[in-house]
Amino acid sequence: MTDLADVDWPPPAPIATRRLVLREPERRDRAAIVDLFTSAEVNAYLGGPREPAEFERALPAEPQGRPGLFVVALDGAMIGIVDVKRHDAERPGHVRPGGEEPELGYMFLPRAWGYGYAAEACTAALGWIAEALPGEPVVLCTQTANGRSLRLAAKLGFTEVERFEEWGAEQWFGVWSPAPLHG
Ligand SMILES: CC(C)(COP(=O)(O)OP(=O)(O)OC[C@H]1O[C@@H](n2cnc3c(N)ncnc32)[C@H](O)[C@@H]1OP(=O)(O)O)[C@@H](O)C(=O)NCCC(=O)NCCS
Repeated sequence: MTDLADVDWPPPAPIATRRLVLREPERRDRAAIVDLFTSAEVNAYLGGPREPAEFERALPAEPQGRPGLFVVALDGAMIGIVDVKRHDAERPGHVRPGGEEPELGYMFLPRAWGYGYAAEACTAALGWIAEALPGEPVVLCTQTANGRSLRLAAKLGFTEVERFEEWGAEQWFGVWSPAPLHG
């Protein structure tokens, strides 16, 4: 996937939801970022966890924000990330000629699962995409074995386009479109 290059970034202010804030990465998020990418549970359907020492070494001392990458914070502390990138044209799964659709991804620390935080944060991110990239269909790709992720995708309003094999597993590929403007 490629970074979003064509959006105003960062947003004028962090995005606040009922319980959460979506913001750029900060220095204080480092330990949570390491936990997220080295957790076997979080990465069970994402190619497996990173090796902690090697991941820490490679992680820059200063947080590296980029357009579309939101840290999700609860009471200031990071509990997960929501990531928007462009779906590479040469990968399977497309809903328009040429591909490069904005693609939603999400990873939350296991202690934050089961409270509706991911749904709350992703709903806010979809609202941001609808404003930042008006009219663009948003896609999502997740393993069919990843039950929690599939439930979240359905709750957010994604509908199935197709399934395909990639990275040795069956993938579910869905699309979300902003509600049409009335009037
Ligand atoms: C996928 C993932 C983000 C889903 O997290 P989640 O917490 O299950 O998702 P939601 O935010 O939708 O929360 C749903 C749960 O919160 C519960 N909940 C509790 N309070 C709630 C509230 N106030 N509002 C909504 N739901 C609430 C729901 O009942 C549901 O519980 P259940 O799982 O027992 O059915 C998480 O499992 C994860 O990070 N997985 C690893 C990374 C990954 O695989 N990502 C996919 C890559 S695209």
